[in-house]
Amino acid sequence: MPVEQAVRIVDEDASGIDRAFRDEVIAGLSQPQKAVPARWFYDERGSQLFEDITAVPEYYPTRAERQILSARGQEFADAIGSGRAVVEFGSGSSAKTPLLLDAIAPSAYVPLDISGDFLRASANTLAKSFPDLPIHPVEADFTKPVTLPGAIAGAPRLGFFPGSTIGNLVPRTAVDLLRQMRRTLSADGAGETPAQLLIGMDRIKDTAVLEAAYDDAAGVTAAFNLNLLIRINRELGGDIPVADFAHRAIWNDDIARIEMHLEAQADMRFAICDHDFTMARGETIHTENSHKYGKRSANTLLLAGGWTPMRRWSDDKNRFMLILAEASPLRMAP
Ligand code: AVJ
Repeated sequence: MPVEQAVRIVDEDASGIDRAFRDEVIAGLSQPQKAVPARWFYDERGSQLFEDITAVPEYYPTRAERQILSARGQEFADAIGSGRAVVEFGSGSSAKTPLLLDAIAPSAYVPLDISGDFLRASANTLAKSFPDLPIHPVEADFTKPVTLPGAIAGAPRLGFFPGSTIGNLVPRTAVDLLRQMRRTLSADGAGETPAQLLIGMDRIKDTAVLEAAYDDAAGVTAAFNLNLLIRINRELGGDIPVADFAHRAIWNDDIARIEMHLEAQADMRFAICDHDFTMARGETIHTENSHKYGKRSANTLLLAGGWTPMRRWSDDKNRFMLILAEASPLRMAP
């Protein structure tokens, strides 16, 4: 089946600058603790570097999640049933999707991703393996409300959010997103069957294992982190001295998250779109959080977002979990 054309959503100014990117970078770097939202990692190079990260020996989450998806196909089929429209939030390369689609016999696949070129390429690759499956890619920032294609009207829905991407959001934003997903998946045309969500979450584990996963010996994660500065310089005409930054990955135990930072190795000043910034040696730009969960914190987060956890699967080394949740009914509770 031909893959539908995705709609472009990027808002550019007259000189072709992505306004949201510019505004968020300038606002983030103007804060006392400099920060840039992690979603801006994923330009073409960043998306490729992330794919490379998933292959380094220290980065276990992708392999652990794949292991669950390949080992538990029959259990997914029993719990999810056939004929659902699978809506994948942040589909990237859709590398794990075939394992799920093979297991559950869905009626359609809707990959949502912010990186349009990557999205189209991945959708076309997937279409070759699933020639009879209707595929409707949507280029979208899934943190904003998304209108699903009319073509899936009537089909019960399964949201698929693998990779522990939820972990990149602070709890308040994660809950906003879960509520948003519930709304998107339950909107007009969803039918009577409650929506389901299959979501990957990385588990709390030994600090050394976690820190190594975000600071691999080959330096791929460092390159991924530093690429954000290269992207800012290229797309926003910045003059950040990239070579004067070092990659840092630190476990924050109180909040149960890995933090990635870019640490200035010298006092410096730079400009981005006519805004001047200074940094002292040792000061950092906070570029990513990757929250880790236990079974209770995972369940609490889902419940806060309007999802009732139904099943949970872990890999054989208990590193990662996939949780199947159902849109909670809006009814009185004690
Ligand atoms: C995008 C959530 C899969 O937080 O583990 C990997 C991104 N950052 N290494 C994660 C990431 C550094 C990743 N996910």
